[in-house]
Amino acid sequence: MHIEYYEKIFLWLTVAVMAVFLVAIGYSVVVHGIHLPTATAQVDPTTLDETAPFDAPGVTDLGNGRYEAVLISKMWQFQPGELRFPTGATVDFITSAPDVTHGFKVVGTNINVMVLPGEVSKVTYTFDEPGEYLIVCHEYCGLGHQAMFGKILVEDGIEAGPAPSGDDA
Ligand code: CUA
Repeated sequence: MHIEYYEKIFLWLTVAVMAVFLVAIGYSVVVHGIHLPTATAQVDPTTLDETAPFDAPGVTDLGNGRYEAVLISKMWQFQPGELRFPTGATVDFITSAPDVTHGFKVVGTNINVMVLPGEVSKVTYTFDEPGEYLIVCHEYCGLGHQAMFGKILVEDGIEAGPAPSGDDA
């Protein structure tokens, strides 16, 4: 079969571009650990704040530098609005929404999940770098969407938990 010279070039270019994309996907999975969050559980959104663990949002120390952080994502705030962890902490974030779809993204990390009413979103991250991390809702959720954010403070030797009450952070 005869193939035109330029057509041959474009055929190989197409193959090369596809190969580059596949390698890029493989690289992001293997090296950066980027993957889709898995479905974990369902919860009745109408009684979310009465259903464990969402009836007591906050941080639980699981030992060995591992923590569980339970948050409610709702119009237009994260509850609790500020979390603190010692440097090196590995945190399982668990969140759900009582009202509409929100997003849970922590800037500067690969934490990025959708928060859907009725679904429990879970994502795990290890904070190797101290600093202040911004939590943003990245799914338009109504008039107050742009004001829906929270904060994670990571510091050496800090006590894990929500920000102490009265602490105007
Ligand atoms: Cu919640 Cu945007």
